[in-house]
Amino acid sequence: MVKLQLWLLVFTGLSGAIAQTDLKGQVFVFPKESADAHVILNMNHHGPLQNFTVCLRYFTDLTRPYSLFSYATKAKDNEIHLFKDEPGVLLLVVGGKWVDFKFPENTGTSRGWKHVCASWESATGIAEVWVNGNPLPRKGLQKGYSVSNQGMIVLGQDQDSFGGGFDASQSFVGELTDVCMWDLATARDAVRAASADSQLPPSVLSWGALQYQIKGYVVLKPLLSLWH
Ligand SMILES: *[C@@H]1O[C@H](CO)[C@@H](O)[C@H](O)[C@H]1NC(C)=O
Repeated sequence: MVKLQLWLLVFTGLSGAIAQTDLKGQVFVFPKESADAHVILNMNHHGPLQNFTVCLRYFTDLTRPYSLFSYATKAKDNEIHLFKDEPGVLLLVVGGKWVDFKFPENTGTSRGWKHVCASWESATGIAEVWVNGNPLPRKGLQKGYSVSNQGMIVLGQDQDSFGGGFDASQSFVGELTDVCMWDLATARDAVRAASADSQLPPSVLSWGALQYQIKGYVVLKPLLSLWH
């Protein structure tokens, strides 16, 4: 049994308390479509990012567009955005520019949890996206760009402004877990670690030591499985 550990409490004025918690085996359930249910995550990084990798697992039956990971700054609402545009098409946005990645969407009984890792490196602009352990053809964007660390990460909604501007028709409905981020372009290593049920060392954002705030109707639940 996973015992949640409360490591640290940080009081951040008006926004209340933020706990740093090991969420292994837990998922955020977004039970219904809304324009306000979301989770705010704290990013732990000093200075701009030249490289990053974001990984997460999601489980949904949505076929309309939805946001998976929205990172906005005051200057750019899509500083980093992982957006499911339509079935089989994932957009990665860096600094307001986007590239699309296409993959065969599972149908029927094999429809289930999807594991996605996306990485980007400034030196070449090369973006890598892996879906369920398989790399997709690499693309490039924003060569030479630096990602600001002065932003806000939101799960469940697409930020069209810093911390807000939500649209129910782009909200996420379903389950999200294992959200992690590193300041290295190491999608392959992250995918390998995930498939071995291990973790890379904590970095910018770690599911094993997550600082999060739930806003609206989002419920933290154990992963639903017959065997665990
Ligand atoms: C970003 O990654 C490149 C290689 O992928 C590396 O040479 C560079 O040092 C990295 N930059 C930072 C700031 O970590």
